[in-house]
Amino acid sequence: MPRIDQETVRKILDTADIVEVVSDFVKLKRSGANYMGLCPFHNERTPSFSVSKAKGVCKCFSCGKGGTPVGFIMEHEQLSYAEALRWLANKYNIEIKERELTAEEIAQASERESMLALNEFALQFFENKLFESDEGRAIGLSYFRNRGLTDAAIKRFRLGYSPEARDALASEAMKKGYSPELLASTGLCSRNDRGNLYDRFRGRVLFPVFTLSGKVVAFGGRTLKSDKTIAKYVNSPESSIYHKSSELYGLYQARRAIVQKNKCILVEGYMDVISMSQRGVENVVASSGTSLTDGQIALIHRFTQNVTVIYDSDPAGIKASLRGIDMLLAQGLNVKVLLLPEGDDPDSFAKAHSLEEIEAYMQANETDFIRFKTKILLDGLAANDPVARAGVINSIAKSISVIPDRVIRSEYTKECSRLMQTDEEIVTLQVAKYANENAEKSQTTKIPETSQEHTKEPTVVTRPTGRAVTDRLAYLRPAEMEVARLLVRYGLLTVAQVVDSEGEVRDLSVLDYVVNEFNSDDISFANPDLAKIFLSIQALSQAWDLELPVAMAQADSEARKYLDEARAGILAAGSVDAIRRKEEEANAAAEEIRRSAIAMASERFLTRALGADPDPQVRTLTTSFVSEKYSLSKIHTKGTHVPSERELLANKVPKAVYGLKIATLQWREKELRAGLVGLSGDEAAAVLSQLQQIREIIAQLAHYLGERIVLPK
Ligand code: CTP
Ligand code: MN
Repeated sequence: MPRIDQETVRKILDTADIVEVVSDFVKLKRSGANYMGLCPFHNERTPSFSVSKAKGVCKCFSCGKGGTPVGFIMEHEQLSYAEALRWLANKYNIEIKERELTAEEIAQASERESMLALNEFALQFFENKLFESDEGRAIGLSYFRNRGLTDAAIKRFRLGYSPEARDALASEAMKKGYSPELLASTGLCSRNDRGNLYDRFRGRVLFPVFTLSGKVVAFGGRTLKSDKTIAKYVNSPESSIYHKSSELYGLYQARRAIVQKNKCILVEGYMDVISMSQRGVENVVASSGTSLTDGQIALIHRFTQNVTVIYDSDPAGIKASLRGIDMLLAQGLNVKVLLLPEGDDPDSFAKAHSLEEIEAYMQANETDFIRFKTKILLDGLAANDPVARAGVINSIAKSISVIPDRVIRSEYTKECSRLMQTDEEIVTLQVAKYANENAEKSQTTKIPETSQEHTKEPTVVTRPTGRAVTDRLAYLRPAEMEVARLLVRYGLLTVAQVVDSEGEVRDLSVLDYVVNEFNSDDISFANPDLAKIFLSIQALSQAWDLELPVAMAQADSEARKYLDEARAGILAAGSVDAIRRKEEEANAAAEEIRRSAIAMASERFLTRALGADPDPQVRTLTTSFVSEKYSLSKIHTKGTHVPSERELLANKVPKAVYGLKIATLQWREKELRAGLVGLSGDEAAAVLSQLQQIREIIAQLAHYLGERIVLPK
């Protein structure tokens, strides 16, 4: 709930007239200096409810209830203090000003934020053109409709149209004060030879790409021309807000469905996602035509362990994508595969079938990856070719060897031996051999850029394996432990308030904050046990949403009990001012009781649930975090007030997260340094410039850490 600024509170208190307010609920009759009516808080025949206009309070002589306008509304409408203020503001048409940002906060609106703001502007511009301009309707909207998209789906995915004119967006954005530099850095515009800006997506329909927190970071623009020499898609370039390899198209819209169904469906294209989604299969995301990255897999992993990959039945494509499956397995996901009927892609399949048919088809045809891979590899092999069969077994054993979970690995081993009609022991040995190799091999591999856009700089990717992996985990562990500890203890507590894209002020929990920060920098827990506990916490935060109303009701009743007890003292005060002051104090105290009751309930909920997690590692970690020296100090202690850790979260949480970011970068720095050896001039130069960048970011982060970072309240 947004804070109402103090000045507005005063105004509401000063304006609200007790007689007018009570008259909304009680028929009052003048009686000397006061007004009398039937008490609304208990049943009575003769009026004992007295209202004093001069004192600004009301009181029932029989049951004792009453108060100032705010107190009366709280009691009568069963509202919290803040809600009662809003109720009164509404009655008196007082505009509620939410707390304004401070000059400092505005100054902090960084490059990143300006880029996000411009993208948001562009999103609305393109959307508006699609629906409101003649050109957009005739070209863009009719295209989408011809392809069978409903208006609801077009709006849900915020599709748009970029006019043909050279600088339709650029000129509009500059009128609004966005700089040419910003237009270029977001990639919304490019410069031509003469240095003039032109819109990148001219004449294309647009698919905006959202981060998990709902920010637009990129656009994919599809041409409507069938000319084969024109690129079908033009995408936003990489920028400081867009890292293609750490976004998944559609995840923002799909995330709830993914959690509900406990499954994520993976397809290739924008259209595939939207068509499936409008049919009711909403847990769908797209890798946007490139092969999956570890970052994208980690994103999926935040919401579910179960992934179904949909392939169109093109054998060459399937074989090529088997490697992607190994990556999913290596990250501990349960992978299933679904082949579509010949000639279909998810888009056409979704359009040709009802939701029931699609679900039935999935149910019947989803195959676990071992079966799938075996079938694909055995296809076309001479029936009794022992050498070829051995090759298949090896290849499958390789896939199995990357699975982190020993139990699942052994299940798959069994299945493979069954399918291949081989001794289980043989497969087991092969798997063990590859597992060893994985652990020992330490190689520097160059992976070619897979994206359509041409990148000139060579990208050197060091893939840590074996020892390097353990070193990295150990290096990051202390920083990760601190973040994990704060999540376990306080994950569901509100740490700050933020303005979302609709301009609404929302509570941001510790978990939300960490998830946002992780997303925006594409990091996650590297240590598997901490990654597991992180996943559990995310799942539990959904469950907490269901528990919250109960906790709130309990907290309300505690607060109310306190107010009831305080009331006698309040009404006994002599002057209007004294009553007001005492009432405000009591309300503030009650509000604090309410808030801390909810906070404690959420802490209890989380630590109890984690302490009962089916995974023993999660249970052990939870116990150790909870039994640590940081114990909650009572909020109202006598004498000197020692702030509890809970009160320091706005500072502690960002510090912990920044600490982890720094550690991650420092490790990356080490890695790059080690990889420098033996690189050619060009490649070395590229790595050196990356190193330089990393050092700059570390310095910046360290600077923040040194400052007193506190999230805005
Ligand atoms: N893609 C891309 N650049 C291209 C081609 C494809 O970025 N030149 C990405 C897009 O994200 C696209 C996905 O790869 O959605 C799949 O490509 P494709 O199947 O060719 O496109 P569809 O999305 O299926 O588009 P359509 O059905 O409209 O042809
Ligand atoms: Mn398609």
